[in-house]
Amino acid sequence: MDKILDTFQVEDTHYASFANKTKISIEKGEGVYAYDEEGKKYIDFTAGWGVTSIGHANPVIIDSLLEQGQKIIQNPNSGATYSPARSKLISLMREILPGNLTRIFFANSGAEANDAAIKLARKATGKLNIISTVNSFHGRTISTVSATGQDSHRGRFNPLIPNHIFVPYNDIEAIEKVICNDVAAVIVEPIQGEGGVNVPDSDYLKNLSDLCTKNNVFLIADEIQTGFYRTGHLFASDNVKIDILTMAKGIAGGFPFGAFAVTEEVHDKLNIGDHGGTYCGNPLGCAVAYSVIKYMQDNKIWENVQDISKLTFGKLKELKEEHPDIIKDVRGKGLLIAIELIDDDVTSSLNSKCLDEGLILNVTHGNIVRIFPALNISKEEMEEGLKIFENVLKEYN
Ligand SMILES: Cc1ncc(COP(=O)(O)O)c(C=O)c1O
Repeated sequence: MDKILDTFQVEDTHYASFANKTKISIEKGEGVYAYDEEGKKYIDFTAGWGVTSIGHANPVIIDSLLEQGQKIIQNPNSGATYSPARSKLISLMREILPGNLTRIFFANSGAEANDAAIKLARKATGKLNIISTVNSFHGRTISTVSATGQDSHRGRFNPLIPNHIFVPYNDIEAIEKVICNDVAAVIVEPIQGEGGVNVPDSDYLKNLSDLCTKNNVFLIADEIQTGFYRTGHLFASDNVKIDILTMAKGIAGGFPFGAFAVTEEVHDKLNIGDHGGTYCGNPLGCAVAYSVIKYMQDNKIWENVQDISKLTFGKLKELKEEHPDIIKDVRGKGLLIAIELIDDDVTSSLNSKCLDEGLILNVTHGNIVRIFPALNISKEEMEEGLKIFENVLKEYN
């Protein structure tokens, strides 16, 4: 206990407090489980915020870290020299990415990938405005906060970067009204994640893509949360023409990494020096991302996502029917799932009771429980977590 108290004390005293913290101190993880400093076991339904896509401490990640770490971590002159680890990852990504996205670049986070996408779309088109959607989330740098459609993120950082236009999500007509207005790009999440797991109509993205093409406007798909099989497909924007695709989170299973891919048309308008960063495309991150994507492909991880998703939605819909006074809605796709509760206080107390019982959930917007576990979670592990949730829920009858 002393050890945990030390951890709490040091972080509470000296770590900048930007998050309302839960009093657990996680020391290690394995698969979908995480263990605190005293050895208490938790089932992690958050995958480190949609990141540990193939589970904690997956041996393929550890092996790639060790193997690449023993060779080289950071290239001499960084991105100005070639790297076999980088080219191996680029080749693998080219095999699976949409055919028109021929140019790939690496980043260290989602915000950084989006930041670059916005910056480069403006550069490539010579136009100023960026359209994004109400309730969207694109990151926490000043540029991505400026593109984020939530007042709670934007309101306190004025002056923001100008020339951002916001339209309601899942509303093509709203975009039609503003798209002629010197617009460089529309940035959109195929499913809004942080905004509450909002799933648009099935033809929304396709219609948006057509509208962008017609108006010579780039479409940036922010697949940072939805990409790499989170929704049961490689990307939630599969089969839709995208000009710039941004990726992070699940791409490297927990290693800080991101990427963006652009068409040759976008790339043609860019020049040496337009973008870069000390750690962009570092061999260590590339080796880990390669091992994660390869694992997903070799294990056909999308099949597991689809199976477990079906089971989970089935169970949650049952629970919604049994508890109509507590659960308002269950929505999402694949293993990006929201349970919207009616009452904020109940959500908060349910969350802490689940935690006591060993289940780590994510609560967003006060009343939305988001479930986005590792994509290789087994049926038994998912049922174990859902059982805890169900038992806690019964206490509110
Ligand atoms: C859709 C989306 N875009 C961007 C980001 C920002 O990514 P990062 O936290 O890696 O900067 C997130 C993070 O939650 C996200 O969900």
